[in-house]
Amino acid sequence: MSTQKLIAGNWKMNGLAADLVVARELAEALAREPAAARVALCPAATLIAQMNWQLKDSAVEIGGQDCSPETSGAYTGDVSAAMLKDAGAGLVILGHSERRAGHGETDADVAAKVEAALPAGLEPIICVGETLAEREAGRAVEVVAGQVMASLPESLNGKAFAVAYEPVWAIGTGLTPTLEQIEEVHAAVRAAMVARLGEGARTAPILYGGSVKPNNAAEILAVPEVGGALVGGASLNAADFLGIIRAA
Ligand code: PGA
Repeated sequence: MSTQKLIAGNWKMNGLAADLVVARELAEALAREPAAARVALCPAATLIAQMNWQLKDSAVEIGGQDCSPETSGAYTGDVSAAMLKDAGAGLVILGHSERRAGHGETDADVAAKVEAALPAGLEPIICVGETLAEREAGRAVEVVAGQVMASLPESLNGKAFAVAYEPVWAIGTGLTPTLEQIEEVHAAVRAAMVARLGEGARTAPILYGGSVKPNNAAEILAVPEVGGALVGGASLNAADFLGIIRAA
């Protein structure tokens, strides 16, 4: 199993061209002192091409935050996987809980988007996670394992991808699960990945996401089966994001 962790920043619907200074600061810091981890930033689709131009020759990779399950055609407002790739993305976040909750995306929708991302050459980061009500009902492991089984298409076999475990109640709240809870769910995610895709699925990293900050990153990243982090708020600031990257 690769020991290199993946630290991905999810800018969500934040960032204008002027904010690309954050990406440049990050790239400059990593040029001075290379990171042990792979590092990626996932800005809004509007910023990908400019970020790609500003980060060329840097160690920072770029990802999208969503893509259409369709390849092209009459889908006003949607962005295809090939368009993201063309703009400079190498990864794409799929099935984030904000897409599942706010746009009604089902596991089947997420799987269809993964099927669109792979032939375009994008590495999907597939998000799963339970709500607070599901956790309180003792159903976290069952819910998350079910999402993994239904959101990961068989075509992922042999492809580069990651799964991100993001408890919905931990996103943007400053709350995090205990390290034991993270370990329990990550073990269940791995078991579901292997049940779905076979032994080849042992090497894909499982990221943790939800209120990862410089002050909790080291302990979270040291939990067994935590292969990196998906970072929202703290990725908008170069110093905070670097603090997390240096903890990996
Ligand atoms: P957060 O977001 O780090 O701001 O909690 C994480 C995410 O939604 O990916």
